[in-house]
Amino acid sequence: MTVTAPRPLAVPQAPGRLPLLGHVHRLLTRPREFFNSLRGSGDIVTIGLGPARAYVINDPALVHRILTKDVRKLDKGVAYEKSAPFLGDGLLNSSEPTHMAHRRLVQPAFHHHRIAEYAHHMREAADEVVSRWQDGSRLELDQEIHSFAVTVVCRALFSSELGDKVADEVEASLPVLLKGVTRRIAFPVGWLEKLPTPSNRHFEQARERLGDTLGGVIREYQRRGGDEADLMALLLSARGEEGRPGLSDEQIHDEAMALFLGGVETARDVLSWTCHLLSEHPEVQRKLAEEVDGVLGGGRLLDHEAVTLLPYTRQILTEAMRLYPPAWLLTRRTITDLDLAGHRIPAGRNVLFSLYAIQRDPSVYARPDSFEPERWAGRAGGELPRTSYLPFGAGNRGCIGEPFAWEEMVVFLATAARRWTLEAAPGERIRPVRSPMLQPKRLPMIVRARADRP
Ligand code: HEM
Repeated sequence: MTVTAPRPLAVPQAPGRLPLLGHVHRLLTRPREFFNSLRGSGDIVTIGLGPARAYVINDPALVHRILTKDVRKLDKGVAYEKSAPFLGDGLLNSSEPTHMAHRRLVQPAFHHHRIAEYAHHMREAADEVVSRWQDGSRLELDQEIHSFAVTVVCRALFSSELGDKVADEVEASLPVLLKGVTRRIAFPVGWLEKLPTPSNRHFEQARERLGDTLGGVIREYQRRGGDEADLMALLLSARGEEGRPGLSDEQIHDEAMALFLGGVETARDVLSWTCHLLSEHPEVQRKLAEEVDGVLGGGRLLDHEAVTLLPYTRQILTEAMRLYPPAWLLTRRTITDLDLAGHRIPAGRNVLFSLYAIQRDPSVYARPDSFEPERWAGRAGGELPRTSYLPFGAGNRGCIGEPFAWEEMVVFLATAARRWTLEAAPGERIRPVRSPMLQPKRLPMIVRARADRP
C-alpha cells in the first residue's frame, strides 16, 4: 500500500489586493500597520508586490525556524538583491558557502576583547558630539547621532584619520542609497531602475562616490601599512585554508560596505528613537541620569568595564529596540520548496516578516505600544524571549555586530545623560520615514545642561 503525503494547506491571500499594484499602496502608505493587520489572518499569508507575490510569515515560532533550522533553504531575497549594486557580495547579502566562510574570517573582529578596544573610539566620538552642544540650543539630534555612528564604525575600521575621510562620504551617501533601495523593494520591476530619472541618477552617483572613496582609502591604508588594532587590519590579514589570503581586494571592499550598511543606520535609528522616548518620559530620563552619575560621578572613565555596570541603560535600549527595531522588515527568498506548518512555499518565492509586528504582539507583551524599560528588569541578555524579541535577527545570519552595537549605544547614551537633559522641540511631531529602516524623519530636540550633575 502506498502512503500519499497530505496535500499542503492553501495559503490565504491578504485582503485588499489591487490589480497590478497588489498591496503596494498599503506598503507605501502605512507599511508597519499593514503588517500588524496581517497578524490576525493566519500563520502565513500572501501579499502582492506589484505583479509579484510574497509570503508573509506571522507566527514568531515559524520566523525563528526560518532564521535557524531552515536557514539553508532560503537566501536573503529582495531587500538585499536591491542593495547589491552598492553592497556587492559582503556578509549582509552573500550566499552559502561564501557567507559562512567570510563570517568566520570577520567574527574575531567582534570578540569581547576587541569590543573593549573599540570602546575608546566610541567614548571619544560621543564626547566630540555632546561637547559641541550649547545649553538650550535646538538640534537635529538624529543628525548628531548619525555623525557619531558613522565616526564610530569608520574609526573602528580605519583607526587613523583615514576613518574620518571615509566618514564624510558615508554620511552623505548612505541615506540616498537607502532611499533608492526602498523604492526598489516596494516595486521590484527591473526596467524602472534603469530609467534616467533624477532619483535613479542620484542613486548611481552616490553608489559610485562611496565605492570610489572606500576603494581609495583601502588602497591608501595598504600602501601605508595599518594599525593592528583596527578592523581593516583584521580583514587584510584574514587567512583562508593553508594560509592563503582569506579575502581578495574586492571582497574586503564588500565586507567593509556591509559593515557600514549594517552598522551605521541601525545604531543611529535605535539611539534616535531612544532619545525621543526619553524626552517623552522624564521619569525614565531621571533614572538614567541617576544610574550614570552613580557609576561615573567620581570621575571614573567610561571604559568597557563601566559599560557593564549600567543595567538600566541597557533596559532602556532593549525596550526602545522592541518598539522600534531598525531592520523592522526582513526579507528572504526560498531556494528549495519549504514546508511550514502544513503549508508549502515553492522554491524561488519572496518571504517577508515584520519584527515590528512580532515585538508588539499583545499576546506576548502587556501594553505592547507603551515604553516600559521596567519590563526588562532583572533579565540578562540571554533571558530575552527567544522568538518574540529579534531586533538583531537570529541564527548564523543574525547580527555579527551586536556586541559592538550594545557597546556604542550604551556609551553614547551614558555620555549624553551625564551632561545633558533632552527635551522635545515644541510643536514637532516625530514620525518615521518610509524606508526598510525604521527611522525618524527628523528629530529636532532641545538640549539643556544638567544643573543637578554631581
Ligand atoms: C542596534 C544596532 C543594530 C541592529 C538592530 C542590527 C540588526 C541586524 C539584523 C536584524 C541583522 C539580520 C538581518 C537579516 O537576517 O536579514 C543584522 C545583520 C548584520 N549586521 Fe547588524 N544590527 C545592528 C548593528 C550592527 C553593527 C554595529 C554592525 C557592524 C559594525 C552590524 C553588522 C551587521 C552585519 C555584517 C550583518 C550580516 C550578518 C550575516 O549575515 O552574517 N550590525 N543586523
